[in-house]
Amino acid sequence: MENGAAQPVIVAIDGPSGTGKSSTSKAVAAQLGLRYLDTGAQYRAITWWMVSNGIDIDDPSAIAAAAGKPEIVSGTDPAGPLIEVDGVDVAGPIRTQEVTAKVSAVSAVPEVRTRITELQRTIAAGAESGIVVEGRDIGTTVLPDADVKVFLTASAEARAARRSAELKGADLATTREALVRRDAADSGRTTSPLAKAGDAVEVDTTELTLAQVIECVVTLVEEKRAER
Ligand code: DC
Repeated sequence: MENGAAQPVIVAIDGPSGTGKSSTSKAVAAQLGLRYLDTGAQYRAITWWMVSNGIDIDDPSAIAAAAGKPEIVSGTDPAGPLIEVDGVDVAGPIRTQEVTAKVSAVSAVPEVRTRITELQRTIAAGAESGIVVEGRDIGTTVLPDADVKVFLTASAEARAARRSAELKGADLATTREALVRRDAADSGRTTSPLAKAGDAVEVDTTELTLAQVIECVVTLVEEKRAER
């Protein structure tokens, strides 16, 4: 067990939007002294670059041809994860409604996924103490050998309510509709869709507080470490 505690631990947290993935992942990483990677931010960053450079989002071949061009740098500090494209801090611009509306189309393109997946694996391999990686396909595709896999879910109503609060009271029905549409696109794409890994622990967060979800994931990681 002493040796086990020193080994890096890889934690994959997947699930649709509004399930509390980011808040949970950051808090678990901070609490356990692990690095943190927001893979959605990487897909948003490449989408922001496509939009900023006039690439036609409705043309997958144009997206594929440009997929290798932007340089994307992700920080892994849970207290302030950095995201840069070609040396520009894009933490703000990647959260606009325009990027949110276009990110599913960009992230469905196989060339984009190959590029970003490689980046994610390199970052995870370099995290000496271990890392919490949040996304949609981490447990299934990016890091299938992760030590702990969690799949967070919640009712569409709960997810929309959380997202609308984050967006400072955006209309609930519109938020719910946009969220359900994005999840359907992310789950329905051919390459590496949003999916629960067979060996992931599913946690329905509908009736749970954030603190309860964090505690649940921390316990799963600690149990895994104790097994080693
Ligand atoms: O977690 P998020 O809402 O910031 O993610 C934005 C989008 O990025 C999401 O709608 C789908 C895509 N994404 C993905 O395809 N694979 C991941 N591992 C993470 C995000």
